[in-house]
Amino acid sequence: MNDSQSGDAATATAIAMQSLIDQSVDTRLEHRLPDLVGQKVGESLSGLPPLQVEVTIQNGDETKVTTLERQHYLFPAVLQLMACRDNKGNPIPLALVGPPGTGKTYMGLSYARATESDFVIDSFNPQTPVSSLKGYMDAGGNYVPTGFYRAFTEGLVYIADEYDRASGRVSTALNSAVGNRVTTFPDGTTREAHENFAFVATMNTYGTGGTSRFVADKQDESVLDRLLYLWIPRDEGLEAHMIGLSDVTSPKCKLNQGGKIPSTKKLWELVGKLRDVVKRHDMHFDISSRSLLFAEAMRRQGFGKRWILECALQRHMPIDQWNELIEEVGEAAK
Ligand SMILES: Nc1ncnc2c1ncn2[C@@H]1O[C@H](COP(=O)(O)OP(=O)(O)OP(=O)(O)O)[C@@H](O)[C@H]1O
Ligand SMILES: [Mg+2]
Repeated sequence: MNDSQSGDAATATAIAMQSLIDQSVDTRLEHRLPDLVGQKVGESLSGLPPLQVEVTIQNGDETKVTTLERQHYLFPAVLQLMACRDNKGNPIPLALVGPPGTGKTYMGLSYARATESDFVIDSFNPQTPVSSLKGYMDAGGNYVPTGFYRAFTEGLVYIADEYDRASGRVSTALNSAVGNRVTTFPDGTTREAHENFAFVATMNTYGTGGTSRFVADKQDESVLDRLLYLWIPRDEGLEAHMIGLSDVTSPKCKLNQGGKIPSTKKLWELVGKLRDVVKRHDMHFDISSRSLLFAEAMRRQGFGKRWILECALQRHMPIDQWNELIEEVGEAAK
């Protein structure tokens, strides 16, 4: 298949996906694409968010359905973001960002449960050493592996909890593993990631440094550029549910919000417009090549423009600068 044919196939798939979402967005979300994760969200007639989430995973001829208890209203977005595949067919590292207690870590764990994947979770802090991730050689010359090593080589879900608290030394040491899916371990072996290795980070900040509320190291741009971002606000309906109240509603998770970007070409033009403004105003921000690749992956997965802008293009850009940018680009970015 040549490039233009594979582009056509991708577009056809995106359109098929989108029409499924269009038909069912308020009551049911469902898609069944080979090797991807889909989900079916059943809502009660009262309009309250789903008390159960059914996740359908189709892998070749095999279909598995897992039922989870009530989840954050953005959980379907987490599933769909984790189902996005980049231009090489690999999953994209995802950062769940938000205030304490909104359920980010829980969502990472729920993703592993939903996909019936084994997982490894490490909590990061400024003292976390590289050796606790990449392993080390003991006095006898034997390599001592880690949870990260297992996740990377055996294809588990890796949850990097409080990833923004890692020292720059540690987060950059993971760059090739997280972003390029290849890394060298201290025993001298260079390993490629198992195809099922999936990376979910949770963070209270966007990794751009501490705030008056949160202590966090400023992460290198090379670390931040490797991530898709999803902001996780408090879900009051879920909170109420956790303390036994059943009548508090949550917002709906409309994955086609903003409307579809109909073609790769249209996305390319949108990114071009954003970049022109960034350049004209000499903004200290870049709409990077990875941003574009991730945006296209999201477009193919059926996400609407509003999601693509937030998760793949705005990412960790400060909101005031982003608003300025969107304002100037005008209708094309609304
Ligand atoms: N869907 C859910 N069902 C039941 N309990 C939940 C759910 N989501 C979150 N919780 C509970 O809410 C609490 C906060 O969730 P969690 O620890 O995931 O938050 P967090 O966003 O990771 O917070 P922090 O930023 O402080 O790490 C936990 O006790 C968790 O078990
Ligand atoms: Mg947490």
